[in-house]
Amino acid sequence: MDGDTKAGNAKGGAEVKKLFIKTYGCQMNVYDSERMAEAMGADGYVLTEAADEADMVLLNTCHIREKASEKLYSDLGRLRPLKLAKPGLKIGVAGCVAQAEGAEILRRMPLVDLVVGPQSYHRLPAMARAADAGGKRVDTEFPVEDKFDHLPARMQGASRGPTAFLTVQEGCDKFCAFCVVPYTRGSEVSRPVARILTEARGLVEKGVREITLLGQNVNAYHGGGPSDLGGGTWGLAQLVRALARIDGLERIRYTTSHPNDMDDALIAAHGEEAKLMPYLHLPVQSGSDRILKAMARKHTVEQYLRLVERIRAARPDMLLSGDFIVGFPGETEADFQATMDLVAAVNYGMAYSFRYSARPGTPAAEKLPVPTVEADERLQRLQALLIQQQRAAQQGMVGREVQVLFEKPGREPGQMVGKSDYLHAVHVTGAEARRGAIARVRITDSGPNSLGGTLTSKMW
Ligand code: SAH
Ligand code: SF4
Ligand code: F3S
Repeated sequence: MDGDTKAGNAKGGAEVKKLFIKTYGCQMNVYDSERMAEAMGADGYVLTEAADEADMVLLNTCHIREKASEKLYSDLGRLRPLKLAKPGLKIGVAGCVAQAEGAEILRRMPLVDLVVGPQSYHRLPAMARAADAGGKRVDTEFPVEDKFDHLPARMQGASRGPTAFLTVQEGCDKFCAFCVVPYTRGSEVSRPVARILTEARGLVEKGVREITLLGQNVNAYHGGGPSDLGGGTWGLAQLVRALARIDGLERIRYTTSHPNDMDDALIAAHGEEAKLMPYLHLPVQSGSDRILKAMARKHTVEQYLRLVERIRAARPDMLLSGDFIVGFPGETEADFQATMDLVAAVNYGMAYSFRYSARPGTPAAEKLPVPTVEADERLQRLQALLIQQQRAAQQGMVGREVQVLFEKPGREPGQMVGKSDYLHAVHVTGAEARRGAIARVRITDSGPNSLGGTLTSKMW
């Protein structure tokens, strides 16, 4: 969920300026990095994978946990020799640390030329030009204009893989007591349906067959419907059904959802819409009502378990994934045990778990944390259980037939790797699977991080 990625696609050429982007944090940042690269592309920048040949380095940051945040400063430290050797090099900081710390970044790290928040990155090219003229710039506004209206259309001329992210909603109004997102991303805003459909069609024309709809609170989506399709305000289910009618788009996913926004229409869509994949990331954070209340999650354990039942009634094979925080202030051993019980009751196919990290400006940061040693010990126990469930879910796939969208060559010669409907990595050897092709695969073995199988259908 928050692995770091480095963007590539260098084209070379003498006159072009080179842009190196490092992306930290969640999928929304991955999407934003792509859009920033496209915006800079219009100003003559091409992406490079080598920071030392770049004319501009952009760090698209994450503020969610202390460790994630601190990475920015250690990476900036590593860029210092580069900047000294090449004074024309521009260094920009984007993303959630940029939003949270703004001008403080320039004070702490004078080598930085510009700081741009997640809502103002359509202004990045202008800021970069200003930096060329010697100015330092900080823009962490939540502007009235919609940045998407001021960004170039997607991927002009670029070639890409068969899967893509598409941001449909941004921001969060939930204010969980531990979380910085409502502050760094602002309040919930949904993009209009027509814009999303246009972007999706454009992606499909470029060969994309699977789209993951993104939002910090994606299932709270409530975008304006196009007048030719009845207008009104659309929920995520309605949006998914409209997207499913796009020829050539084969698979739809969405992330991340809050349990309270999982409405009946969306649950029903999982039972009825074949293109909507049977994988749902539905974070609960804790299995203790007392802690859920202190976290301001606004739901109980019972409500979450009933919701899981309803989802599985609509789609019995749904693979559920979750997020957990261990060591939230006030968490006792009994509270932690309740989390273990909830995990046992739900049986997750996949999960992310974190030790609580106090974030400046959030209500929980005022409270006394659980001692680190204790929290770490709990985290280990939780992770052992979650890994056991994940392995069991993978093992349970052996002998079953799944649909795989092939994405790239595997490590071994003649091997192709793709994702199953359930988001498991699946590799097939010697079958001449094409990148971007979909086929049915019988799973024959389950390794620690991926499944292996053989084709049982033609590719399409
Ligand atoms: N919008 C999503 C996820 C937001 S951040 C949701 O509502 O679930 C991704 C995950 O990071 C969270 O689900 C949570 O498990 C974790 N996280 C957020 N703040 C954290 C903190 N202060 N300490 C540790 N983990 C945190
Ligand atoms: Fe953060 Fe809670 Fe909003 Fe998720 S729902 S982004 S955890 S405040
Ligand atoms: Fe991190 Fe911001 Fe995403 S804090 S998890 S990059 S929304």
